[in-house]
Amino acid sequence: MANLNEHYRDLKDSYLFSEIAKRVDTFAKAHPEKKIIRMGIGDVTLPLAPAVTEAMHTAADELGKAETFRGYGPEQGYAFLREAIRDYYAKNGVRLQSDEIFVSDGAKSDVGNITDLFAVDNTVLVPDPVYPVYVDTNIMDGRRIIYMDANADNGFLPMPDRSVHADLIYLCSPNNPTGAVYSREQLAEWVAYALENRAVILFDAAYEAFIGDEGLPHSIYAVPGAEKCAIEFCSLSKTAGFTGTRCAYTVVPYALEQTAADGTLLSLNRMWNRRQTTKFNGVSYIVQRAAAAVFSEEGIRQAREAIAYYKGNAAVIAKTFDSLGFRYFGGLHSPYIWMECPDGMKSWDFFDLLLEKAAVVGTPGAGFGSNGEGYFRLTGFGSREQTEEAMQRMRALLG
Ligand code: MLT
Repeated sequence: MANLNEHYRDLKDSYLFSEIAKRVDTFAKAHPEKKIIRMGIGDVTLPLAPAVTEAMHTAADELGKAETFRGYGPEQGYAFLREAIRDYYAKNGVRLQSDEIFVSDGAKSDVGNITDLFAVDNTVLVPDPVYPVYVDTNIMDGRRIIYMDANADNGFLPMPDRSVHADLIYLCSPNNPTGAVYSREQLAEWVAYALENRAVILFDAAYEAFIGDEGLPHSIYAVPGAEKCAIEFCSLSKTAGFTGTRCAYTVVPYALEQTAADGTLLSLNRMWNRRQTTKFNGVSYIVQRAAAAVFSEEGIRQAREAIAYYKGNAAVIAKTFDSLGFRYFGGLHSPYIWMECPDGMKSWDFFDLLLEKAAVVGTPGAGFGSNGEGYFRLTGFGSREQTEEAMQRMRALLG
C-alpha cells in the first residue's frame, strides 16, 4: 500500500481560480444569452508584441534547419536570456550575475517548487490576504504558517513584528491581490528582520513592470543586504503577456547561504541548481528567444505600451468607483483594484450578485484569506471596451 501525503487533506477542495472558473461555467451554461465579462483571474488579453512573435518565428526556423537545430538546452536557461535579464536588472540599478538567474516556465511553479529546499519544520510567515499559492504549497508540505494582518489601516502593507519569529517570509510587491507597493524603506525593514532571524524572504516581483513611480523598488535587491536573505521570483506573464507562452525567472544570489544542522554553510544557489538540473529540463528555445526579445529596446517599449493600456483600464475602474463613492486600493502600480464590497456585503455574496445581475466576474477577497472577507478584486487585464461595459453594468446595479 502506498502511504499518501495526507497534508493534501488539509487543503480547501479546489484552488481559488479553479473554483471561480467552475462557478462561472455553470452560470454560462444556465444563461447562454448573457455576455459575461471576466475580470477575475489576472489573465492578459492583448496579443504578444511584434518583437516577441518575430523572435519566435526566427527561432522556429532555426530549429527547422540541421545547422541550427537544438535539442536539450541548459536547465537553468540559455546564456543569452540570463544575460538579458541581468542587464534588465542593471537598468533598475541592481547588479546580478547571470548565473544567479534561473529561467523557468512560471513564477507559480517556482514559488511552489522552492519549498523543496526547506525543511518542513520551518515557520512560514505570510500576509493575509495572500496569493493562495504561498499558502497551499506549504500546507501540502505540512509547514506551520503564521498570518500577518494586512488591512486598510496599514495600507495592506504589513511590517515585521519583532516578537514573532519566522524562517520563511513571503512578500509580494506590487501586491497580488491588493495592488499595494512597499517602499524601499519598508523593504529595508523586512531585510533587517530577515537577517536578524536568519530567515529567507521569498519575494514575488511578478508585477514589478506595473510600477510607475521610479522612487518605488522593482526588486528586493534594491535594498542592500537582500542578497544575503532573499530569493526573488519574476515572470513574463504580466510583464509581456506570457500567461499562455510560459516563461519566468528566479533569482537565487550566491551570497544567500544558510547554516546546516552540522554547522556547514550551504549555498541556496547550488541547492536550487541541483534541484532544477534533476527535476527540470528547461524552457523551450523558441520561448526563451521570445523572452529575450522582451528585454530588447523595442521589446521593452512594446511591453510598456501593453502595460499602459492595462493600467488605463484600472484607471477606468478607479474613476467609476470614485464617482460611486466606493473605497478601493491599488490600481496605480498594479493591474488590480481591491475594492470594499458595498453595503458590508460578504465577498462571495458580492461575487454571486455581480455575476447574476451584471454578468461580471471578479475574485472574492475571502479567497485570498480571512482578511480578504468584505473585499473584491477586479483586474484591468480586459479590453478597454469590456472594462467600460463592466463599469456601466456596475453603475446600473450599484449606483
Ligand atoms: C491571479 O489572478 O491572481 C493570477 O493570475 C494568478 C497567477 O498569476 O497564477
